[in-house]
Amino acid sequence: MKILVTGGAGFIGSALIRFLINETDHDVLNLDKLTYAGNLESLAPIADNPRYSFIQADICDTASINEIVASFGPDRIMHLAAESHVDRSVDAPGEFIQTNIIGTFNLLNAARTLYERDENDNFLFHHVSTDEVYGSLGEEDFFTEETPYSPNSPYSASKASSDHLVRAWGETYGLPIVVTNCSNNYGHYQFPEKLIPLIIMSAFEQKSLPIYGDGSNVRDWLHVDDHARALYLVATSGVPGETYNIGGNNEKTNLDVVSTICDVLTELRPPGQNLSYHNLITHVADRPGHDFRYAIDTRKINRELGWLPQETFESGLRKTVEWYLENGDWCEAVSGGYEQERLGLKSAN
Ligand code: NAD
Ligand code: DAU
Repeated sequence: MKILVTGGAGFIGSALIRFLINETDHDVLNLDKLTYAGNLESLAPIADNPRYSFIQADICDTASINEIVASFGPDRIMHLAAESHVDRSVDAPGEFIQTNIIGTFNLLNAARTLYERDENDNFLFHHVSTDEVYGSLGEEDFFTEETPYSPNSPYSASKASSDHLVRAWGETYGLPIVVTNCSNNYGHYQFPEKLIPLIIMSAFEQKSLPIYGDGSNVRDWLHVDDHARALYLVATSGVPGETYNIGGNNEKTNLDVVSTICDVLTELRPPGQNLSYHNLITHVADRPGHDFRYAIDTRKINRELGWLPQETFESGLRKTVEWYLENGDWCEAVSGGYEQERLGLKSAN
């Protein structure tokens, strides 16, 4: 099968492509603009494989996207390319509207043209989305596939919009589509703006560890390799027209996550006499519109596709800390000018 992955140089896209090349026999074309978040170094382990190829392109560039989709003629489009960081969407929402909404619209049009041209009964457009489209939970309850959309950030609103476009292309034009909405991912090769790698790197550099607000916000953490496995299962066994929620059943407060990272680091890299990673924890101004809690009800994908995560949070987090400690070169190569500074407090443009 031929699989076009968009955003394959990003955190989840690169995990998906490493999985597809190492664990399946499909041909994979990675289409990525290589923004600050896209790094080909993350694909070094499979870059020389003859079943893998890369093309640098912007999903907002209609002509290029039409041409690439038409000439590759994929059986699957797995669409991950997006602006993904909530704090950046607070600072500069425009890019999120362009890439996440207009880019998805372009890709859907290209997919529709291909589908009508080839009449390929095996074709599927898989849109990779987020649980943030459902908004924020209180102390109880879980997001199901029936939870009404209620996005709160420019990022989640742009992803919700793209989810609706995908669904509409399915209903109106008969394009075979499937949507997945996943909780917070963590693991190796994640850009160090996101909570877990930011805390690991900052702690190691003896910088302060910023906790937004009181640290009681809850996220449901899933190891990125478990997400990659789930995506492949949905892309190959999911029912067209359906949505599947994906999550780790690993609810943690942000304060718990940061404290656990400090514990693991203390064991792996003792901080030196009279020093403590925990003492670096600093409560800072809250994120505007900060969602309180995300938690996924994964019973549909468990029951219908037989997917279960394989990594526990404890083992996955430990491996992640070890990976960042051993891969300073990758971190330096991808960071560009970013030095773990606070994002997301500026007024929007
Ligand atoms: P990421 O920011 O690490 O990677 C995004 C990738 O998309 C990068 O390689 C970037 O270069 C590429 N890209 C950005 N704009 C582009 C454009 N205009 N044209 C082509 N390529 C472009 O993101 P991620 O964390 O890997 O997330 C991937 C997808 O999964 C996103 O759609 C995101 O909404 C979704 N998601 C992420 C998480 C998470 O916890 N990270 C959870 C659920 C869903
Ligand atoms: O739920 C899925 C989403 O998870 C994805 O759709 C997004 O692409 C992904 O970025 C992630 O969004 P979050 O906003 O939850 O992730 P982030 O790592 O930015 O923040 C996790 C939590 O930690 C959140 O409650 C904010 C908090 N936080 C974050 C940073 C960067 C801090 O307390 N301090 C920080 O410095």
